[in-house]
Amino acid sequence: MEQTVCVLGIESSCDDTAAAVVRMSDKGAQILSSVVEGQNELHAEFGGVVPEIAARAHAEKVDGCVRTALDDAGVTLAQIDAIAVTAGPGLIGGVLSGVMCAKGLAAGAGTPLVAVNHLAGHALTPALTDRVPFPYLLLLASGGHCQFLYVAGIDDFTRLGGTIDDAPGEAFDKTARLLGLTQPGGPAVEQAARNGAADRFALPRPLLDRPGCDMSFSGLKTALLRARDQLIADQGGISAQDRADLCAGFQAAVCDILVEKARRALSAARDMAAGQPLAFAVAGGVAANAALREGLQGVCETQDTQFIAPPLALCTDNAAMIAYAGGRLFAAGQRDGLDVSARPRWPLDRAQAPLLGSGKKGAKA
Ligand code: KG4
Ligand code: ZN
Repeated sequence: MEQTVCVLGIESSCDDTAAAVVRMSDKGAQILSSVVEGQNELHAEFGGVVPEIAARAHAEKVDGCVRTALDDAGVTLAQIDAIAVTAGPGLIGGVLSGVMCAKGLAAGAGTPLVAVNHLAGHALTPALTDRVPFPYLLLLASGGHCQFLYVAGIDDFTRLGGTIDDAPGEAFDKTARLLGLTQPGGPAVEQAARNGAADRFALPRPLLDRPGCDMSFSGLKTALLRARDQLIADQGGISAQDRADLCAGFQAAVCDILVEKARRALSAARDMAAGQPLAFAVAGGVAANAALREGLQGVCETQDTQFIAPPLALCTDNAAMIAYAGGRLFAAGQRDGLDVSARPRWPLDRAQAPLLGSGKKGAKA
């Protein structure tokens, strides 16, 4: 990339409405602004993201997010060289809100439009934050996604494995709900687990005994429900210590699954890299979990691999990653017309069959 390009990114595929401005040149990328407006309070009483409510909120908030992102960056729409928008995968009503906004701006200002895969945004984040060269291995673990991706270029992804049912963040959220903890469940469960004994309850590690890097988390949640109900039947309720022990057991099971599958994915990725240096990066809200980070760091140390955990605000859903991915695609010549479609499903690895499962946050592949 010879000159500097200024990219506006728009993201609305799940329950965060986001806009960002990223300036890119051959020297790297600079995030000039990044605005994220969550919707937790709108969905709290329903115990999960309600697609229609999410879509309406995105439609209401997206213009304001774009305006704030431009103002914070100190640029006008006329100074934007490309508009990058998440065009899928995700909850279709929300994706449409962002795509319609981006099309309107592109048509009005005569600015090129670039449709970006949300997963590519996550997958290219280590290149944005740490300038990690290709190839690298990425674990994306959030409330809606869970997959290992071998990232060989801006549009060259191989999925080494993924969840066949729930995403791990979804399992953390359900666990919190079952135990009367607050949402989002991950931080609450992690906090409670600090005072718990992970070995008190025998919780399963689904698919761990099978070869490969696919994962499953839904049986774990069912086992946790049974253990909780048994306690209630035996003693009429659950104590704070019971809750802490259940959280610790659950977190240990999720970490065991992700860490063992990461070990296998890293071996496979190292074979694919055929001697080229290879880093291992994480993305997604679950990457905030300290026990998980520690376990993954350990895997990297045993395989002499650099471990990269981008700042949390860029691990979770945001528009800076969409602007960056869009900017890289724009520099490579991608331009999309005003007829570009919003897509509920859009696998990054087109050579592989989509994974089963579509959780509360939409399609996982
Ligand atoms: O990436 P993200 O912000 O949104 C999407 O799912 O797209 O991830 C949110 C998920 C939630 O399910 C939340 O419970 C989980 O990440 N999470 C955590 C932690 N912090 C957030 N899970 C485990 N431990 C944490 N500390
Ligand atoms: Zn995401």
